[in-house]
Amino acid sequence: MTTYPTLKLRSGLSFPAFGLGTWKSKPGEVYDAVRAALEIGYRHLDCAAVYGNETEVGQAIKDAIAAGDITRDELWVTSKLWNNAHLKDDVAPALEQTLSDLQLDYLDLYLIHWPIAFKPGVGFPRSADDWLTLEEAPLSETWEAMLAAKEAGKSRAVGVSNMGPERLSALAEVGEAPEVNQVESHPHLQQSDLLDFCNAHDIVLTAYSPLGSTDRENRKDDEPPLLNHPTIKTIADEVEASTAQVLIAWAIARGTVVIPKSVNRNRIQQNFDALKVELTDEHMKTIASLDKGYRYLDGKFFASNGSPYTPEGIYR
Ligand code: A2P
Repeated sequence: MTTYPTLKLRSGLSFPAFGLGTWKSKPGEVYDAVRAALEIGYRHLDCAAVYGNETEVGQAIKDAIAAGDITRDELWVTSKLWNNAHLKDDVAPALEQTLSDLQLDYLDLYLIHWPIAFKPGVGFPRSADDWLTLEEAPLSETWEAMLAAKEAGKSRAVGVSNMGPERLSALAEVGEAPEVNQVESHPHLQQSDLLDFCNAHDIVLTAYSPLGSTDRENRKDDEPPLLNHPTIKTIADEVEASTAQVLIAWAIARGTVVIPKSVNRNRIQQNFDALKVELTDEHMKTIASLDKGYRYLDGKFFASNGSPYTPEGIYR
């Protein structure tokens, strides 16, 4: 029996520290992935409206509950508000749509996906006219609407994604601080300062792209290796695990939540089995030395097509 790692949120909720990522999981594959994960013992699904697959994820959750693989109480479901619904009256309807797609009465966690706003109805901006600045769509107002959604019982917790200390502090001024901040994190982008900040403010950090998201579009030629990094490989051999398992075990051991994506049953199982992998202090120190502050997701898209945003400004 695998002990499932959990972290406590400020409210006292127990947040499963390992989950299935569903970004890039296509409709047509994600149903089987979610069913496999819930059969294997996953207790946490990480979703988002913009992934375009919540209807299928919802069907899989419904069928898994009907099959007795899991109960709603045992399952943690996260989703995210897309950039085109930041205006305060648009938050509740966007959340209702996600709940309807996922066939759920409530979420466990709802996050503001990016500190970036588009005009209502714009999926991905094509011209300068499609964007809203943060003066036009203040994050403080989006956050107030998120807190109201929590108050209304639509999500047990609320938080943000892709934000740094400056924005987290500003939101804390609005009322309650975010309970979770989901950011890219792996050995090349360890985010140690941000993790320290989050720990000091009782904000749990969730690590996305923990395996380097090699199934991304627009990959760069000079990206540093992660799954086949020689140092990670050496450690993997020492603990008789795969490199993916080492990356997952590392993320959990340093006190973050981690959400590796897979649509392959064997890899979904392998990633779950990472919960049994133990790294030594020496391994942790060796991996700590690999940090190069490298983002696989550099935010350049959000600075193109007439955008008022800059890549440097996004993650503040
Ligand atoms: P697949 O879905 O075919 O398993 P990230 O979680 O960082 O976004 O990375 C997801 C990528 O890593 C996907 O291409 C996924 O492929 C692949 N992946 C997931 N688990 C493993 C694993 N255990 N070993 C190798 N690749 C994996």
